[in-house]
Order: sequence, then C-alpha cells, then structure tokens
Amino acid sequence: MNIILLGPPGAGKGTQASRLVESRGMVQLSTGDMLRAAVKAQTPIGLKAKAVMEAGELVSDEIVSGIIGEALDGLGAGTGVIFDGYPRTEAQAHSLDAILADRGRTLDHVIELDVDEDALVERITGRFTCASCGEGYHDSFKQPKVEGECDKCHGHEFKRRPDDNEETVRTRMAEYRAKTAPILPIYEARGIVSRVDGMADMDDVTAAIAAILDSSKS
Ligand code: AP5
Ligand code: MG
Repeated sequence: MNIILLGPPGAGKGTQASRLVESRGMVQLSTGDMLRAAVKAQTPIGLKAKAVMEAGELVSDEIVSGIIGEALDGLGAGTGVIFDGYPRTEAQAHSLDAILADRGRTLDHVIELDVDEDALVERITGRFTCASCGEGYHDSFKQPKVEGECDKCHGHEFKRRPDDNEETVRTRMAEYRAKTAPILPIYEARGIVSRVDGMADMDDVTAAIAAILDSSKS
C-alpha cells in the first residue's frame, strides 16, 4: 500500500507516519527528514537546500523528486510507503505519478489532516526531538516520562529545528496554502482522498487513519 499524508506544517504527518511504521511495517519517506540529513552531511543537495529551508520556502521540484525516486529504488517491491511532506506542488504530484508507474506501484490513499493553522503555531514552536533516535516530543503535549531522558533510547540530548520559529512557520503555511493545497483536486478526481480531523487527540487521529487503511483491505 502506498499513501500520502498531506497537511500543513505541524499537522502531524511525521507523528502519524512513524506510528504507521511501528504498527504496519511501512516505510516513511519524509522529504523534510531526507533534506535535513543532507544539510547535516553538507552534501551538494544539502548545501543548496539549507538557506531555502531556513527561510521556510520550498526546495526545487527536481531535487525532491530525485531523492524520492532514489529512496524508492532502495525498497523491496512489496514494501508499503508513506509519503510524508511529498508531493508539495503540482509538478511534484505529476513526478510522483511517473515515479510510481515506473516502479509498478500505485497510490492507494491520500489522507488530508484537517487542522487549525493558529493552533499549529503552538504545536510547532513547542516541538523538540531526541538527538540520538529522533523520537518526537512537545513542551506542552508530550514531555519525556523522565525529565531530560528520551523514553525510547534513554538519550539525554534533544534538539529543535531551525525553521520552527513563528516567522518561518508562517511562511511555511503560506507556501502550503499557495502551492500544496491546490494539488488536492488531482487526487479528489481519482476518488482517493480521505479527510481526518488533525486537531483530535493523537490516538484518535491514528485510529481514524487505521480505519481508512483497513477499509480498503477487504
Ligand atoms: P517538513 O519537514 O516536511 O516540514 P512541514 O511540512 O513543515 O511539517 P512538519 O514536519 O513541521 O510537521 P508535521 O506535519 O510532520 O507534524 P509533526 O508530526 O511533527 O519540511 C521542512 C522543509 O523542507 C520545508 O519547509 C521545505 O523547505 C523543505 N521540503 C520538504 N519537503 C519538500 C518538498 N516536497 N518540496 C519542496 N521542499 C520541501 O507534529 C508537530 C507537533 O505537534 C509535534 O510536536 C507533535 O508531537 C504534535 N502533534 C502531532 N499531532 C498532534 C495532535 N493530534 N495533537 C496534539 N499535538 C500533536
Ligand atoms: Mg514532519
């Protein structure tokens, strides 16, 4: 099964994708995570992407579609994929069609996380992750069980994204409204879009997504 999680910054794409990885053995392909890894490793792509990401703007379609194609080539044919943060423009949506067709894959679901933008600013600016294993936390909604210690790997270092400040978040949201939301009709025309209330509790969002995925199995 191949699915897209679509929604503005902070909608919970990464949170829900990692739950699907744990519960269903699917693979999460997050262009944001891949670009951040490239920035950290100072690869040629990372060097190009760094300033664009820090400004909250979109990296070029060629770069992101290139890394998605490469990532898919590394996976077994039967592995289910969650696209998290890709596609984000009409050009990327068309590239994804070609990338999937070339590899004999089809798109099963586009799940839109429906959210309130103002509440998202609080979600994003409070977010932090374990520097060792990447487990996500939040100042108000999800603190580690033991203060200063990761629940998952027991690491003691945490980090925040450089683009998680209010000004950049507003730019990222404007980019979403202008360039990403307009791709929904492409998938609506195919009858594969489902909407989930992304403002509900995390577990309720997870359950709603599970119900959508399970409904297409039978
Ligand atoms: P990317 O990394 O994709 O960031 P984003 O889309 O802005 O989304 P986020 O990762 O911020 O949010 P999320 O939806 O994953 O939410 P999360 O689960 O963390 O992209 C970053 C940048 O890379 C872009 O700006 C661009 O420059 C570049 N880029 C990436 N892909 C690109 C592409 N395809 N084309 C061009 N450029 C690209 O949740 C947020 C917080 O809320 C967490 O703390 C979480 O714990 C909490 N939370 C989640 N769900 C709930 C809930 N239901 N209730 C309460 N809290 C919740
Ligand atoms: Mg994310």
